Amino acid sequence: MLLQMTMKKLKTSMIVGLGIATLAGCFPKASEVIRSLPVENKEQILAKYNQAEIAEGQVLFTSNCAKCHKLKEPESRTPEQWNKTLKRMIPKAKLNDRDGQLVRAYLIVNAKES
Ligand code: HEC
Repeated sequence: MLLQMTMKKLKTSMIVGLGIATLAGCFPKASEVIRSLPVENKEQILAKYNQAEIAEGQVLFTSNCAKCHKLKEPESRTPEQWNKTLKRMIPKAKLNDRDGQLVRAYLIVNAKES
């Protein structure tokens, strides 16, 4: 009897676990998408995003990236450095994939020369 109940519990938790795993697979976390972005330079970013998108990236940056520390100047880092740092910071700021990519576009376009 006791064994039967334990088995039932085990089965239920296995089903719940599988369900969560499947759901997570369908909605990859922002961090995964951001982490998989290639290292891009200014020219590549300008070819992919228009001025309105870059302006939106600036707004998202100023409103989301000064919660834990002061805003870091875009010119304080090279595109290579932003590519690396943003893989950690965009998930910290809990930005979705699109917003994260716009912040990244704004920062790389305004980064210091590498
Ligand atoms: C939840 C808090 C939090 C948010 C939100 C956050 N940061 Fe950070 N940031 C940190 C902490 C903590 C550090 C220092 C530790 C580290 O480098 O991981 C840091 C360090 C940095 C650094 C210096 C380290 C480096 O690698 O150059 C930069 C640049 C930076 N953040 C940019 C950003 C940008 C851009 C955003 C918005 C997308 C952002 N941060 C949002 C917590 C945060």
